[in-house]
Amino acid sequence: MQIARTISEIRKYVAQARAAGKTVGFVPTMGALHAGHASLIEAAAKRCDYVVASLFVNPTQFGPGEDFEKYPRPFEKDAHLCESHGGHAVFAPSADEMYPRKNLTWVTVDKLTEPLCGQSRPGHFRGVTTVCTKLFNIVGADVAFFGQKDAQQAIVIRRMVADLNMPLEIVVCPTVREPDGLAMSSRNQYLSPQERKEAPVIYRSLQRCAELLDAGERDAAKIVEEMQKVLGQTPALRTEYVSILDAESLERCDPIRGRILVAFAGRLGSTRLIDNIMVDTTAK
Ligand code: PAF
Repeated sequence: MQIARTISEIRKYVAQARAAGKTVGFVPTMGALHAGHASLIEAAAKRCDYVVASLFVNPTQFGPGEDFEKYPRPFEKDAHLCESHGGHAVFAPSADEMYPRKNLTWVTVDKLTEPLCGQSRPGHFRGVTTVCTKLFNIVGADVAFFGQKDAQQAIVIRRMVADLNMPLEIVVCPTVREPDGLAMSSRNQYLSPQERKEAPVIYRSLQRCAELLDAGERDAAKIVEEMQKVLGQTPALRTEYVSILDAESLERCDPIRGRILVAFAGRLGSTRLIDNIMVDTTAK
């Protein structure tokens, strides 16, 4: 397992892999890896000869009062998980390595970053798109792998790559869930035992939505109301949004048609949780 702390080290490792005729896969992460990340690394290892995972808690995507300081950074465990799922190199730079001076250059994606998490996390997606651009430029991979769990992020990144003709393919892999349906997230470890017990209500609300769609319901407002009834069974959960949007444009979609994103964000105690399902209603 190769460990790179600097940009020149990871560039050297990737250049060596390229010189050996290998294709390069990239899994950008903030560390605190779990089974969801493991599935991305495995997908990358299946598709590419040489797999790089980055472990970097990116300060520019956290707002004031968010969990940047307390975000877990279990480096040894992460490097081990990466290796045991088929990774070849870890890129774990310091904040100074990534941002050696005041950053004056930002990548922003309009429109797609406005709804959903864009409402409550101003500047978040600008931080994500900027760091991903930097990481893509540093690693120079053929394919990068993202999780469906962060659906809006994946949609934004795909669009950025297309709009800016970035020379890499974006692959989005399915959300990995705990047996009770809770989507895997590095932030799940913040939940108290009681909150952890309650958290699967989010997935139950998404399943209720899928049931209603299967039964032919196409009134988005009605479906959201039904989902809110399910979520209401857990009074400790404070919903930020439950939205049904077009899966590509992230515009409102009522009555529902085509491919849609059904997305939830909310807080249990101080932990912010997000989840979603993507449904193609044309196939139904
Ligand atoms: O999804 C994440 O973990 C982060 O937003 C990413 C893509 C690694 C950028 O910091």
